[in-house]
Amino acid sequence: MEAIRFDHISKYYPSTGVQASDDISFSIEEGEIHAICGENGAGKSTLMNILFGLEKPDSGSVFIRGAEAAIRSPSDAISMGIGMVHQHFMLVDSFTAAENVLLGIEDKGFLNKSSEREYVRKLSEDAGMPIDPDAPVYALPVGQLQRIEILKMLARNVKILILDEPTAVLTPYEVGPFLETLRKLADSGHTVIFISHKLQEVMDAADRITVMRQGKVVGTKEKKDTSIPELADMMVGRKVLFEVEKKPSVPGDTILELKDVTMRSHRGRLLADKVSFSVRAGEIYGIAGVSGNGQEALISAIAEDASIESGSILLNGKEISGHKIAEKRALGMAYVPEDRMTTGLNMAADFLDNSIIGFQDSSEMNKGLFLNREHITERAGKMIDDYQIRGASVDGSVSALSGGNMQKVVLARELSASPCLLIVDQPTRGLDVGSIEFVHRMLIRERDKGVAILLLSVELDEILSLSDRVGVMCRGVLQGELEGSDINEHSIAMLMVGETEEGR
Ligand SMILES: Nc1ncnc2c1ncn2[C@@H]1O[C@H](COP(=O)(O)OP(=O)(O)OP(=O)(O)O)[C@@H](O)[C@H]1O
Ligand SMILES: [Mg+2]
Repeated sequence: MEAIRFDHISKYYPSTGVQASDDISFSIEEGEIHAICGENGAGKSTLMNILFGLEKPDSGSVFIRGAEAAIRSPSDAISMGIGMVHQHFMLVDSFTAAENVLLGIEDKGFLNKSSEREYVRKLSEDAGMPIDPDAPVYALPVGQLQRIEILKMLARNVKILILDEPTAVLTPYEVGPFLETLRKLADSGHTVIFISHKLQEVMDAADRITVMRQGKVVGTKEKKDTSIPELADMMVGRKVLFEVEKKPSVPGDTILELKDVTMRSHRGRLLADKVSFSVRAGEIYGIAGVSGNGQEALISAIAEDASIESGSILLNGKEISGHKIAEKRALGMAYVPEDRMTTGLNMAADFLDNSIIGFQDSSEMNKGLFLNREHITERAGKMIDDYQIRGASVDGSVSALSGGNMQKVVLARELSASPCLLIVDQPTRGLDVGSIEFVHRMLIRERDKGVAILLLSVELDEILSLSDRVGVMCRGVLQGELEGSDINEHSIAMLMVGETEEGR
């Protein structure tokens, strides 16, 4: 039985001049997990926003179980049994988990707070996504926030669940269990629409896969009849190489040096314990480790303005720990933070302004007392071309860009800054396969130009294919360093769980 059918859906955005949906027709079966793949800006989120009543198509219709449906708002969609969890979460920080799940439906016959809590606890356990109903949302890790978002929809009795890049925020260890809960939902009669750039996951989880490109449907495939290379080719329209080509590094002087860096949390917990390592010009130093083992703390001290308890952090021989970010940038640091939505971009500003955030005061951007508008405009235009930032224009707003294209703005800005030290935290999160290939090539190119690169990634594949040296963190300690042919999945994994080579 067909759950949803898109029938000749088209949607044009005049402000960006993008045909985001271009005569889209395909259907989604009841009880299946249906993945939607496509490049950044292909129109995946737009189509889902149409299905959820957030956007109105210019033409075409949506059919729900064979009947044409007029979905004018998210509340229409929910009343028709369709729920959506967005690419960027929308929870109320000051509320508890249970309050968030029931927000807006509290009056549906609950006697008191404790019956609400009990209801949420049972709902979460039945769905295989247990949560603590009383936990305040601001204190929860993203994996839990995601459960709350999904439970919020299940509490409204939705039968069709749209998940826009749900796994982008999860660590590799959380993905497997998450995909199992999706299967459970499908087995209990839910239809799941699942957007992802990670083709391995798509092949693991989906029954059928629809590929989009530039607003059009390229095709729908049964999982058993397709493969990762075929999906990648359909998405990008050319062959994608999953291997990065690189020559051995020719490292030069030490650019970044950490000596016995010790850090504690506000509550006194040891976050980093006498960590020492260095990154030289012309090499990529990867830091691997399950998140929460100290690498976040280190980055906040190296690239942001967190203070350390003891030790030192040297950039080109100068102490930089405790210094302001602007001072570090002036010394040649560029930084792509993990959370680009809130710390990397100014959503209220246009592309041009975003293209110079953090570099406003540099001599390159200024002419006398004023910003060098001509140069900045030319540079911004080149970024859009080089990085193929779809939907962007120099004076257009960044908030209208697709998720992946927003990330490209930050990458383009930081990589264009001619830094001596480049720090990249999860550089390809949310990017499509073609863009990942491109960013990897750019990082290797910067390395070959002599830039010292510090790479953090939860994707082991990314660490393996890019790094010249790897440091592995476990419980605040740099457990070991690997180099050259010693860099492999097995030795990294051993160090990640705290086993040293000698200890085996
Ligand atoms: N509100 C909007 N106003 C103008 N243009 C928009 C708006 N929303 C999306 N677009 C444009 O429509 C195109 C499709 O965007 P959409 O967000 O659907 O892509 P996507 O496939 O979800 O990409 P990603 O994988 O990067 O999230 C993009 O070029 C984007 O810039
Ligand atoms: Mg999207």
